[in-house]
Amino acid sequence: MTSQDSAETAADKLRKSRMTMAKKKKEAPVVVRFTNVSKEYKLYKTDRARFKSLFSKKIPYKTKKAVNNLSFELHRGEGLALIGRNGAGKSTILKMITGVSFPTEGEIFVDGTISALLELSSGFDREASGMENIRLKCSLMGMSDEEIDKVIPEIVEFADLGEYIDQPLRSYSSGMKARLGFAISVNSNPDILIVDEALSVGDKQFRKKCTKKVQEIMNDSKVTLLFVTHSLQTAQDFCDRGIVLEKGTKLFEGDIEEAIEFYDSRM
Ligand SMILES: Nc1ncnc2c1ncn2[C@@H]1O[C@H](COP(=O)(O)OP(=O)(O)OP(=O)(O)O)[C@@H](O)[C@H]1O
Ligand SMILES: [Mg+2]
Repeated sequence: MTSQDSAETAADKLRKSRMTMAKKKKEAPVVVRFTNVSKEYKLYKTDRARFKSLFSKKIPYKTKKAVNNLSFELHRGEGLALIGRNGAGKSTILKMITGVSFPTEGEIFVDGTISALLELSSGFDREASGMENIRLKCSLMGMSDEEIDKVIPEIVEFADLGEYIDQPLRSYSSGMKARLGFAISVNSNPDILIVDEALSVGDKQFRKKCTKKVQEIMNDSKVTLLFVTHSLQTAQDFCDRGIVLEKGTKLFEGDIEEAIEFYDSRM
């Protein structure tokens, strides 16, 4: 047997074990389901017009369909990447899952606690310290005081902000806010972890730490990951499946390798 043969068998083995894992995950219960979901934004000419529209139906507006008749299912333990160009509708989908935004049509089913890292500063209080913000965010996620006390040391260590953990958030750089947000998200033991582009901020060392942590989380087959990134390599590292979106419409859904191939072939 040549070394190439053995390399091929190793790759085959890896592929087979991934396929068995993926099959098992597909048989797990559904934790997120979109049924014919659409989201239309109303675009008014000015903020004044938008405000007036609250009182009058006559104010003219244009519409923008950010998500168009989207259906998909996500099973417990799966990692799903949303892939698409700027404006494809990825963040809008994540916002609807977390309840920050609502669909105009269709139904969304979610089962489990969600920890979402959407926009870096969302859900933070600028005047409160890092430590106070940890408590605030965790309690917003539905954790009890006891549960929060338990995870605080892990969050503080992961964020690694030194004495800044007791300083108000307005004194943080954007990288520091990202560290805090990420530390909370990955250490709060959610059922569903949602990450929107957050890995692209922070320095190289912190990104490495985050990657390792997400990989650890994904080895625990109970946690479900929904992931948005423009780095196809990262998507491939973390996810089993991918959905390719263009202008709010799903063009492809399948294994992550095939999804990436599909996306690459259209670029
Ligand atoms: N609050 C809003 N009001 C009006 N239009 C919006 C709003 N939020 C998003 N859109 C529009 O909806 C479309 C989808 O936006 P979305 O932020 O979901 O894209 P995305 O795939 O996350 O893009 P990116 O890769 O740039 O983050 C875009 O055309 C965007 O301009
Ligand atoms: Mg986005």
